[in-house]
Amino acid sequence: MRQNIVAGNWKMNKTLQEGIELAKEVNSLVAGISPKCKIVLGTPFTHITEVVKAVDASKIGVAAQNCADKVSGAYTGEISASMVQSTGAQYVILGHSERRTYYGETNAILKEKTDLALANGLTPIFCIGEVLAERESNKHFDVVKSQIEEALFHLSAEAFGKIVLAYEPVWAIGTGKTASSEQAQEMHAFIRKTLVAKYGEAVANNTSILYGGSCNAANAKELFANPDVDGGLIGGASLKAADFLAIITAF
Ligand code: G3P
Repeated sequence: MRQNIVAGNWKMNKTLQEGIELAKEVNSLVAGISPKCKIVLGTPFTHITEVVKAVDASKIGVAAQNCADKVSGAYTGEISASMVQSTGAQYVILGHSERRTYYGETNAILKEKTDLALANGLTPIFCIGEVLAERESNKHFDVVKSQIEEALFHLSAEAFGKIVLAYEPVWAIGTGKTASSEQAQEMHAFIRKTLVAKYGEAVANNTSILYGGSCNAANAKELFANPDVDGGLIGGASLKAADFLAIITAF
């Protein structure tokens, strides 16, 4: 179901105590307002149960930043989708470029992860995006389209309706070099057109497509004003409650 979403991705930051503190700060800041978006906190696995307890679930959801591509078993250190679900998290971020780059996550692996997340009642926030060299060689549309096709287009229209997409141009992540409003809208519109071709207008127009990559208090309003940008997946600017609130209130 399409809705405005501002999701924080804390990545590998904050001890448990610091994370609980940040969650409580965000929770108290939004308590007195009626945000025009769903708020999600993407925390490390270790923080999820405590953060779930610390926030008002009617306004703030909690996401894991990954889940295993196996159901259960001898996979030391892995966290399964069912384990994530049992913590009280409602979402899981999948396919982040840092996992694709550093941990070799392929579209085939992400297809398995997506299926397991959906099978366990989690909402995937599925990340797609090109690296600078792909944009500079004008391959960015092909790259994003194949990421979606190879990992998600096996899903039925009903199942796909549970997916949230996050377009994150890799060259904009953590660099302070945000995609321009025009670049974001162009790619989001292309993604939506790709969904129309596969699933039809209803599913495409009912899919939330978030932007991620140096989104902050200064640029969020312009980015979110675009017709095909339904919010943001926020890294650095989600680590301070006041910065994150400024993005939440950008709608
Ligand atoms: O998942 C969101 C993240 O990749 C964006 O990071 O620091 O550029 O907002 P940042």
